[in-house]
Amino acid sequence: MSATETETSLFAHAPAKRLAPTTILLFGAAGDLARRKLLPGLYHLAVAGYLPEDWRLIASSTRDLSDEEFRTLAREAIEEFGRLRPEGEAWTRFAERLTYVGGGFAPGSTAPVARAVARTAEDLGATAKLVFCAVPPAIFDDIVLALGEAGLAEDARVIVEKPFGTDLASSRELNERIHSVLDEEQVFRIDHFLGKEAVQNILAFRFANGLFEPVWNRQFVDHVQFDFPEMLSVDKRATFYEQTGALRDVAVTHIFQVLGFVAMEPPTVLAPKSLEDEKVKVFDAMRPLQPSRVVRGQYVGYRDLEGVAPDSDTETFVAGCVFFDNWRWAGVPFFFRTGKRMAETRRVLTIVFKKPALSLFERADVPTDSVDANHFTFDLGDPGAISASFLVKDPGWELDLTEARMDFRYDEGDGVLEAYERLIHDALVGDKTLFTRADGIERLWEVAEPVLENPPPVVLYEPGGWGPTEAHDLIAPRRWHLPSNH
Ligand code: BG6
Repeated sequence: MSATETETSLFAHAPAKRLAPTTILLFGAAGDLARRKLLPGLYHLAVAGYLPEDWRLIASSTRDLSDEEFRTLAREAIEEFGRLRPEGEAWTRFAERLTYVGGGFAPGSTAPVARAVARTAEDLGATAKLVFCAVPPAIFDDIVLALGEAGLAEDARVIVEKPFGTDLASSRELNERIHSVLDEEQVFRIDHFLGKEAVQNILAFRFANGLFEPVWNRQFVDHVQFDFPEMLSVDKRATFYEQTGALRDVAVTHIFQVLGFVAMEPPTVLAPKSLEDEKVKVFDAMRPLQPSRVVRGQYVGYRDLEGVAPDSDTETFVAGCVFFDNWRWAGVPFFFRTGKRMAETRRVLTIVFKKPALSLFERADVPTDSVDANHFTFDLGDPGAISASFLVKDPGWELDLTEARMDFRYDEGDGVLEAYERLIHDALVGDKTLFTRADGIERLWEVAEPVLENPPPVVLYEPGGWGPTEAHDLIAPRRWHLPSNH
């Protein structure tokens, strides 16, 4: 274990409140992500004492708002989406640190933001800078170039949202442009799924226990499935979504990153480089997606949304199957499914084990499909849960079997940080363990490339169900674990 790795390893950093005064620059400050996650998250971090003692937020977007109007927008967002009410002294102290600069931020029009940063620096003395780009991929590079032009890039840590680029070529170009202004050390590519407690718990489950790791391979695992249905529609972000679609928005990002945690080899230490090296290695082993093993769907009604083309080909649903061509996983299918306006909102990862070599229970009512028993389920929702399902004897005269389960549930404790909160905190203290790296992201675009270049036609599906029936054919003769009663 090298000294640098120990110093920067997960959970080994100093709390952010001991940090130097910090200016947080938030681009896309009036957008959906800022309202749902970032403003409520910053408020929670501030109240819980996880921000530096002295900080200011400079919020910016193309909308024309006064400081007061932005504070109202922030308060309403926190009221609607946060877990702490914006009230009393805590809210007053938070609100007075917020300022707003409208008119956007791009090369050639950087002066208003630069002036606001200079004023903050006067107020706080020398400040560290954390920049959050909560904007669509097409605008990242403009913001980064503008940071350079305005002289704000030096020593800044810059968080960029996913998707990082829209395909392999654009993510490479984006990396080049970013590196013309920032060192790689300054770039924090966020995939908020990696900030979820329940996702990090996959690592703990696998690598802290002698019990499970020995069966975590092709000898024992029949298949893996990651199911990510969502009831919500895309009404408020239709313009972004129309350019993005489910494959780029959720599959190539959150789903593949989680599958990376499931499939990777143990890292030497829990530190950024080791962890990401292993993840990239397993992404290298990922076989490119076959268009014939991918189903794209679109919910009926999507084309009526404002910002969506009447003949739109954007998928709001995608299901597929990937393989990792390595010694641990050769031949084991990893299925995934995600979509908007589906019957439930869940994030369920299921590791399904093979049936015993010989069944001694011919007469009994043994489920024919091992997804009915013999599996681990990771519920990656918030707060998250893990369960093991197996068969036991049904009490009675007959030797019949029934399914039993052991459950572990996270408490919904106050101390737990929401994913974005955790990651903002990690970026403040410079810990990159739970951020993604350029080579890993580029590899995932490469994996998706055959489908991006040659997408199967979208199939319409009715809202409120489980997407196109073709997704059932995709997994057959196996079946999706959801819907289930747990
Ligand atoms: C976002 C996607 O990154 O993740 C959304 O853009 C998706 O489309 C969301 O709904 C899901 O995140 P969470 O934290 O609600 O599971």
